[in-house]
Amino acid sequence: MSENISVLGLGLMGSALAGALLSAGHRVTVWNRTPARAEPLAARGAAVAATPGEAVAASPLVIACLLDHASVREVLDGVELRGRVLANLTTGRPAEARESASWATARGADHVSGGIMAVPQMIAGPGALILYSGERAAFDRHEQALAALAEPRWVGADPGMAPLLDLAMLTGMYGQIAGGLAAAALVRSAKYPLTEFTEDLLVPWLNAMAAQQPGWAAAMEAGDHRTGVSNLEINRAGLRNLVTAFAEQGVRADLLLPLQAIVERRVARGLGHEGLSGLVLELEEGA
Ligand SMILES: NC(=O)c1ccc[n+]([C@@H]2O[C@H](COP(=O)([O-])OP(=O)(O)OC[C@H]3O[C@@H](n4cnc5c(N)ncnc54)[C@H](OP(=O)(O)O)[C@@H]3O)[C@@H](O)[C@H]2O)c1
Repeated sequence: MSENISVLGLGLMGSALAGALLSAGHRVTVWNRTPARAEPLAARGAAVAATPGEAVAASPLVIACLLDHASVREVLDGVELRGRVLANLTTGRPAEARESASWATARGADHVSGGIMAVPQMIAGPGALILYSGERAAFDRHEQALAALAEPRWVGADPGMAPLLDLAMLTGMYGQIAGGLAAAALVRSAKYPLTEFTEDLLVPWLNAMAAQQPGWAAAMEAGDHRTGVSNLEINRAGLRNLVTAFAEQGVRADLLLPLQAIVERRVARGLGHEGLSGLVLELEEGA
C-alpha cells in the first residue's frame, strides 16, 4: 500500500532511503538543508519541500536522517509535530535518543529510534537491517513501509535500545577490524601474500570461530564461566606469546594489549581456571 512519507536529510544515507521509498511506490516528500541534493530525487518523482515544516505537514510518517540528534531537533524546532510519527534514523547514543524521544513526545509526536545496519549501497537490498525501538504502535502502523528500506527489526520500547544495539554491533565490527589489522601487520612482516592469507586462511577461520559466540552469551547469562575450550591461563600464555612474537617481527601489538591487560588482571585475581566469557565482568566491574 502506498503511503505519504517525508524524508528530512538527503546525504548519502537519506538519499538512499528516499530512493528506496520511491522505488517501492510511496509518495515521497523530501527536504534537505542544501536544496540541490534533492534534484535527483525530484527527477524520480519526489515532491521537494521548501522547509522542514512543509515536509512534516505532507506525511504522517517523517523519516529523519541527519548528522546527529542535535541537528534533528534544530531542524524541527518550531515545526508542528502533533500526530506525526518521527522515525529518527540518525545515529546517536542511547541517551541522545531518549532525549530526542522526550522532546518529540512533548510536541505530540510518536518517536521511533532507528539504527541503520547498512551502508547506503545496501539499502533495499539483501543483508540490510534497521533496528527500531520506541513507540511500538507507531512502528507497527508503518512497518510495511519501513520494510522497503531494509529488514525492520523491533528491539523494544526503550528509545535508547536501537542505538545501543547499533553501537554494540559496531563494537563487534571494530573488534574484528582491530584483529584483522594486527594480523595483517604480522603477516606483512613475514612478507607472506596478504590477500591469500586473508581469503584462504583468516576469513574462513573467523567465520568458524564466530560459531563459538552463542556459547559465550549463554555462559555470561548463566554466570557460569567454566570452560571446556581453553581457560584464561592458557589464553594468558597465548597472548604473552603473541605480544612477544609481534616484537620479534618488528610490529606493534598495540591493538592486542588492552585484551592482554584484562586477561592478566583476571588471572591475577585467581580466576585463571575460567573461560574467556568471564572477562565481561572485568569490563562491567572496572568502569
Ligand atoms: N553513510 C552510512 O554508511 C551510514 C550508515 C549507517 C548510519 N548512517 C547515519 O545516517 C546519518 C546521515 O549520514 P550520511 O552518510 O547520509 O551523512 P552525509 O552524507 O554527511 O549527510 C548528512 C546530512 O545531514 C545534513 N545536515 C548536517 N548538519 C545539519 C544541520 N545542522 N542542519 C540540517 N541538516 C544538516 C546534511 O545536509 P547538507 O546536505 O545541507 O549538508 C545532509 O543531508 C548519520 O547519522 C549517519 O551516522 C550512515
